[in-house]
Amino acid sequence: MALTARIVVGPMRFDDVAAVHEIERLSFQTPWPADAFEQELRGNRLARYLVARAGDRVVGFAGVWLMVDEAHVTTFGVHPDWRRQGIGRQLLLKLAELSVTIGARRMTLEVRVSNQAAQALYRQFGFEIAGRRHRYYTDDGEDALIMTTPDLADPALRALVDAERRRLAG
Ligand SMILES: CC(C)(COP(=O)(O)OP(=O)(O)OC[C@H]1O[C@@H](n2cnc3c(N)ncnc32)[C@H](O)[C@@H]1OP(=O)(O)O)[C@@H](O)C(=O)NCCC(=O)NCCS
Repeated sequence: MALTARIVVGPMRFDDVAAVHEIERLSFQTPWPADAFEQELRGNRLARYLVARAGDRVVGFAGVWLMVDEAHVTTFGVHPDWRRQGIGRQLLLKLAELSVTIGARRMTLEVRVSNQAAQALYRQFGFEIAGRRHRYYTDDGEDALIMTTPDLADPALRALVDAERRRLAG
């Protein structure tokens, strides 16, 4: 947690894409191609992407699509050298705030059944398991868990998000 004060989360820019792609490559068996991020930034009005910066360096990223009233988390990663320092938590907090701003009622995502680290993080933000997609990941056939938050206006969830905000500020 000590380093989070030096981390600034803001919108992803075109010149961040190479660094984001490198984190993707280090984080996922089947990373998105770099031009997928460029297309998203250029052409998808329903998408919002964030990066976490330590000085000039991009150390994490996250994205959502607004689908009707749902903010669907599309991708999310922190550089392996920068994990376990609260950066994922900081990105998810901003995603939750952004989701409220763009009119979402709840957040959803898919996560590998084996990805305990991400699931633990999501649970801290009120996500719960809502279902399972059989053989969702085409590279190795692993199942995905569908996780979703309660209504983002739910007082209990707001209290969780406020507590995270205070924790990061303090
Ligand atoms: C999941 C991921 C984004 C977490 O990023 P991070 O910056 O390390 O997360 P944080 O330091 O903010 O951790 C927040 C909480 O998540 C949980 N967590 C994070 N990493 C964990 C791990 N390796 N094992 C168990 N719990 C973990 C803990 O509850 C942690 O809180 P704590 O440090 O107070 O115990 C990062 O591990 C990652 O990029 N993984 C590869 C890509 C990926 O899986 N993305 C999600 C796809 S759905």
